[in-house]
Amino acid sequence: MSLSILVTGGAGYIGSHTALQLLLGGYKVVVVDNLDNSSQISLERVAQLAQDHGPNLSFHKFDLRDKPALEELFASEKFDAVIHFAGLKAVGESVQKPVIYYDNNLIGTIVLLDVMASHGCKKLVFSSSATVYGWPKVVPCTEESPICAMNPYGRTKLFGEEMCRDVYKSDSTWKIILLRYFNPVGAHPSGAIGDDPRGIPNNLMPFVQQVAVGRRPALTVYGTDYGTKDGTGIRDYIHVVDLADGHIAALNKLSDPSVVCTGCEVYNLGTGKGTSVLEMVTAFEKASGKKIPLVMAGRRPGDAEVVYASTEKAEQELNWKAKYGIDEMCRDQWNWANNNPYGYEPCASTD
Ligand code: NAD
Ligand code: UFG
Repeated sequence: MSLSILVTGGAGYIGSHTALQLLLGGYKVVVVDNLDNSSQISLERVAQLAQDHGPNLSFHKFDLRDKPALEELFASEKFDAVIHFAGLKAVGESVQKPVIYYDNNLIGTIVLLDVMASHGCKKLVFSSSATVYGWPKVVPCTEESPICAMNPYGRTKLFGEEMCRDVYKSDSTWKIILLRYFNPVGAHPSGAIGDDPRGIPNNLMPFVQQVAVGRRPALTVYGTDYGTKDGTGIRDYIHVVDLADGHIAALNKLSDPSVVCTGCEVYNLGTGKGTSVLEMVTAFEKASGKKIPLVMAGRRPGDAEVVYASTEKAEQELNWKAKYGIDEMCRDQWNWANNNPYGYEPCASTD
C-alpha cells in the first residue's frame, strides 16, 4: 500500500513541485494550504502532470492554525509522515510585521506538532533555510556552522528547528529531518508549474523573470562592491525539482526501517556551488534570448556576501545530490515565465 503524506503549504512554490515528485514516486498526497500565497491552480496542474497518479492528490483549504480542522483531518486519515512547508517567507515583510510572522510560522508549527503527536504520527520533514547561517564567516556552510537569526523570518526558522529538537528530546519515538534550503529557483521542465509570488518579488530570479516578460523595466542589482569575483553577492542556487527530490530522499530515510535514523537531523539542500548575481543574469539572458536591463545600486540591508552549502552530509546520509546546474535552472525558469507571464491567475495579478 502506498504511503500517505500530509504536505502543509503544498500549493506553494516548493510544495507543488514536491507534491508532484511524491505522486510520481507512488505516494498518496494530502495538501493543506490556506492559499494565502498561492493558487489552487498549481495543484490542478500537479494532478495533470502526475497523469495516472493524479487521483492520489487531495486538497483541503484551511489555515494550519485551525486546530479543530487539523484534528478532523487527522481523525479521518492516517498519515505516514508530514512535510511542513506552510509559512510566510518574505524577509522584508517580516521586519515590518513581525507578529504576523511569529503567529503564522510558529503557531502553525506548534499546532501541527501537537496534533501529530496526539494522533501518533511522529515523522516530520521541516522546511528550514540557509537564512539560519546568517552572514557566514566560513563557507561552505556545514550543518555544524554557527546559526543565528538576522530578522524575524529567520528567527521563526531558528525557533522552528529548536522546537523540533526539543520535541524529539522529550519523546525519542519522533523522527524529524530539518532541511536547510539554499536558493531554490527554476521550475518544472513542463513549464506548467513554477514560482508565482504575490506583489513585487523579493528574490532575484522571480524578479529577473518578470523583467524578461516585460512586467518590470529593469533589475536592481543590490551591491556591486562585495569582495567577490564581480562585486555582486554569491549564492547557492538549486533547481526546485532537485530540492523536491531531496524531500523524497528525506522521507526514505525516515520510513526505511533498515536505515539508521537518529531522531532529529539537519541537512543542507544546495549544490555546493556559488554563483554571483551577474553570472545568474548572464545565464538567464542566454537561456531566454532576452536582455535584462540592470540598475546598479547599493547593498540591500541584511544581505550576506557569500553563502553556499557543504553538500557532503546529504550526499552521504540521504543518498541525494543535486543534478541540475544554472543553465537548466534558467532554461526551466524561462519556460515557466514564457508560458505563464502573469503566473497562475493573470486576472488576479497585482502589477
Ligand atoms: P510559498 O509561499 O510559495 O509556499 C508556502 C505555502 O504555505 C503557500 O501556499 C501558502 O499559502 C501556505 N501557507 C502559509 N501559511 C499558512 C498557514 N498558516 N496555513 C496553511 N497554509 C499556509 O513558499 P515556498 O517558497 O514554497 O516555501 C516553502 C517553505 O520553504 C516555507 O516554509 C519557506 O519559509 C521555506 N523556504 C523557502 C525558500 C525560498 O527561497 N523559496 C528558502 C528557504 C526556505
Ligand atoms: N538580488 C538583487 N536584486 C534583486 C533581488 C536580489 O541584486 O532584486 C541579489 C541579492 O542582493 C543577493 C542575491 O540576489 O545577492 C540573492 O537574493 P535573493 O533575495 O534571491 O536570496 P537571498 O539569499 O537573499 O535570500 C533567500 C530568501 C531567504 C532565504 C535564503 C536562503 O529570501 O529567506 O534565500 O534560502 F533564507
